[in-house]
Amino acid sequence: MSNTIVVGAQWGDEGKGKIVDYLTENTDVVVRAAGGNNAGHTVISNGQKYILHLIPSGILWEGKMCVIGNGVVMDPFGLLEEIAKLRGQGVKITPENLLISDTAHLVMPYHKALDRAREAKRGDKKIGTTGRGIGPAYADKVERGGLRTVLLTQPEILEHELRERIIQHNETLLAAGVEEVPVEETVQKVLEAAKVLAPHITNTAVYCHEAIKAGKSLLFEGAQGTYLDIDHGTYPFVTSSNTTAGGACTGSGVPPRMIDKVVAVGKAYTTRVGSGPFVTENEDIGDMLHNMGREFGATTGRARRCGWLDAVLVRYAVMINGADELAITNLDGLDGLDEIKICTAYNLRGTVIHYPPSTVADIEACEPIYESHQGWKQDLSQTKKFADLPPLAKAYLMRLEELSGARIALVGIGPDREQTLVA
Ligand code: GDP
Ligand code: IMO
Ligand code: MG
Repeated sequence: MSNTIVVGAQWGDEGKGKIVDYLTENTDVVVRAAGGNNAGHTVISNGQKYILHLIPSGILWEGKMCVIGNGVVMDPFGLLEEIAKLRGQGVKITPENLLISDTAHLVMPYHKALDRAREAKRGDKKIGTTGRGIGPAYADKVERGGLRTVLLTQPEILEHELRERIIQHNETLLAAGVEEVPVEETVQKVLEAAKVLAPHITNTAVYCHEAIKAGKSLLFEGAQGTYLDIDHGTYPFVTSSNTTAGGACTGSGVPPRMIDKVVAVGKAYTTRVGSGPFVTENEDIGDMLHNMGREFGATTGRARRCGWLDAVLVRYAVMINGADELAITNLDGLDGLDEIKICTAYNLRGTVIHYPPSTVADIEACEPIYESHQGWKQDLSQTKKFADLPPLAKAYLMRLEELSGARIALVGIGPDREQTLVA
């Protein structure tokens, strides 16, 4: 019985899905507590590839309960599409293994339209969002004008409230010169979706507490990453939720004192998708990884920007999340390199700093200070035990452990569930 939070230590896509899937074997309940279907978590098991967006990765295991917590923004159409796709792959999804918080907020078609309209208006300054309506949905929540999933169980109230919201948001869309959302068609479609999803909707905070009381273990599947956090990330080039460890508590109703462990997941290098500052960005690494067919987004298919491992970011993420352990994925991505660099500090206009500055202008002004490591030049993908890793690969990991302040507990040497080494 132990409750663990898994978070991303970089800009998302660190391999959280794979690590959560690996850890699910020894857990009972897997909880998503923030974000929406902007997330794309890849799990490869038994030769099958699954991509999860809203549904916790635990759904791939039999007998595990999956919870979409109150901190999530949920697009009912996106969720139904995801359920259909997973069922097509043979995954069983029923109210017996998927619960949705009745206080999670709904992402509606007008949120997606607003997201896209705002991005178009930003022009060069666009955030590069996933276009899933995440920002506008959270804005409505915070502004206290959102619709919560409980309404999917109350069709008469839903119909009235939704009609009102669509008309209201259509005024904004019209003013932005964007096509309005059709009122009656949308209301009818949401009512149809509500019928299918209603049996999954409940007070999931109560469920989680009862599970804990019954001696079950909870695993919180983080979405996005520390530097996409609305408070701690590279604002405004961030998402609209708290993606860090604290968000797992507010987004589920499970209090901090019931959390036993935090695992931060990071790649052995760095990637980012979308706009925003990236101190260690390096086109050669990007070309190398893209030529290997890697680092294309799971949600939007966009090529990810790539760079050297930034230990300044990982160390700060360990601090903000209170991470006890690190899971380092994609170590095999560096197999072919003669020389591998780690950024250990930044030079900001002549001053050496050890944490990321708070403005985009200052981050952009940072020069990375690198130390150089010799590459292991060996295919790691078939390694069976941590002890069997080449000494140079181990030295690279040990140095990261030293720089970050957290113990490396897991190492990924391939995308498959089996390609995970316990350190
Ligand atoms: P998430 O959003 O954090 O769950 O990560 P994504 O699934 O979006 O992106 C991670 C990518 O790396 C996916 O394509 C995974 O299949 C892949 N991956 C995860 N761990 C490893 C690893 O250790 N080695 C390799 N080669 N691929 C990995
Ligand atoms: P997972 O869970 C990587 C990025 C977008 C954009 C910014 C804001 O798979 O790690 P949004 O649509 O949230 O308003 O976009 O955040 N972003 C992600 N990048 N992985 C993710 O999720 C992301 N979710 C959002 O690219 O830069
Ligand atoms: Mg992803």
